[in-house]
Amino acid sequence: MKKIVVLTGAGISAESGVQTFRDANGLWQNHNIMEVASPQGWARNKELVLEFYNQRRRQLHEVHPNEGHKALVDLEKYYDTVIITQNVDDLHERAGSKNIIHLHGELFKVRSTGDENLVYEWKKDLNIGDKCEKGYQLRPHIVWFGEQVPMISVAAKEVMDADIMIIVGTSMQVYPAAGLVSYLMQGTPIYYIDPNPHISYELQRSANLEVLSEKASTGVRKVVNKLTG
Ligand code: APR
Repeated sequence: MKKIVVLTGAGISAESGVQTFRDANGLWQNHNIMEVASPQGWARNKELVLEFYNQRRRQLHEVHPNEGHKALVDLEKYYDTVIITQNVDDLHERAGSKNIIHLHGELFKVRSTGDENLVYEWKKDLNIGDKCEKGYQLRPHIVWFGEQVPMISVAAKEVMDADIMIIVGTSMQVYPAAGLVSYLMQGTPIYYIDPNPHISYELQRSANLEVLSEKASTGVRKVVNKLTG
């Protein structure tokens, strides 16, 4: 079976009603990244950080996978399919994708601030005083700006073995995620689906890039239909 690796960003969840980060009215228009998504912000004001993620976690209960997420599931009948997502929502899981790597963590998980191996499923609000079994405060299981991306080496290995790469709904501005393209074998076909595509340095160097400047709900289905005949 040939291998397809799919890199997704906030744009694939946009039509489910989940805000992106850098579009007009995106999350980073209304929040200061360093205050709500960095270790410094956590040290300075834990309540502000917890409320930022509580709002996003509450919303996640209200939204559903869209046609973009669902179309990717159909690839699994024909290809060894790996979803590498920058998203912290669980919409790929709920759509039915089986092999998902979360580069930036998961909104429905929390972890101990005293032992990072203690990770728990957590779908309700997280507050000061919510502690792990060892008595340490719990924090969102999210990779904040300035923190290591533990899954990047696993993701890079998958990209190295890819026969085809699909990129959906990401501005390709955040590294190391955006740099994964450089692990592709020369000439590997890349399909990039985004209504406002950002052709990063790595994408410019691809000899085999096809850009579909359209939304995930239609663009992903077109690519999947093409790849599955
Ligand atoms: N369908 C497909 N793509 C869309 C849609 C849509 N309906 N609507 C918007 N987009 C595209 C935008 O054009 C943009 O290219 O989604 C992309 C969203 O870009 P960002 O908001 O920068 O989100 P993302 O690339 O996922 O950000 C990467 O940055 O803030 C950090 O950790 C956060 O994982 C995030 C990372």
